[in-house]
Amino acid sequence: MGKVAIVVMLITLAVAKPIVHSKIEEPKEVDEWFHKVRLGLAAEKVTKLHFYFHDIQSGKNPTAMRVAQSSFTDKSPTLFGLVNMVDDPLTEGPELTSKEVGRAQGLYGLAGLEELSLLMTLNYVFTSGEYNGSTLSILGRNPVWHPVREMPIVGGSGVFRLARGVATAKTYSFNVTTGNAVVEYNVLVIHY
Ligand SMILES: *[C@@H]1O[C@H](CO)[C@@H](O)[C@H](O)[C@H]1NC(C)=O
Ligand SMILES: *[C@@H]1O[C@H](CO)[C@@H](O)[C@H](O)[C@H]1NC(C)=O
Repeated sequence: MGKVAIVVMLITLAVAKPIVHSKIEEPKEVDEWFHKVRLGLAAEKVTKLHFYFHDIQSGKNPTAMRVAQSSFTDKSPTLFGLVNMVDDPLTEGPELTSKEVGRAQGLYGLAGLEELSLLMTLNYVFTSGEYNGSTLSILGRNPVWHPVREMPIVGGSGVFRLARGVATAKTYSFNVTTGNAVVEYNVLVIHY
């Protein structure tokens, strides 16, 4: 790298600052935003999120529903092949009645033959406050009986455009009769 390039880079770093953008923008605005990021004119931000995920499989208002299974699922101790489509509430506190901050929409599939583990392919869409309308995409392995599970955040939209990060999940409660689970999430994301 030449001296000029280094100087340009230092100036760029010095002026890098958060770029404020509204959640839903026209393609032209997204294009401008993207170029600013590419030129190093946007500072990286770290955002920490904490919420509870409610996987409600039974009762009057289930939010997780079985959409597929394999011919082997019923014989499998790990429910291999079962797929649930969910629109699960995300709340501030562990009670379902606490303030809703978003929804977890997507699919999880039982992907372990020997250990019960989920393939999580979910979008977390936030529905209140400064993140309202923005999403984070999770794609990862969730061995649900482990005390802590770590899953990658592979992207996002709105405030979380170009996000990358890590989610850790800990089961708060699980009812073996109903299959309903409450899971505590701590999420760390880098975005602009
Ligand atoms: C979130 O955004 C939607 C759509 O723009 C809006 O209808 C809703 O009132 C907002 N919710 C909150 C809590 O701000
Ligand atoms: C599990 O759910 C059933 C049915 O709603 C309820 O009767 C039972 O008390 C729950 N068990 C626990 C440990 O919360």
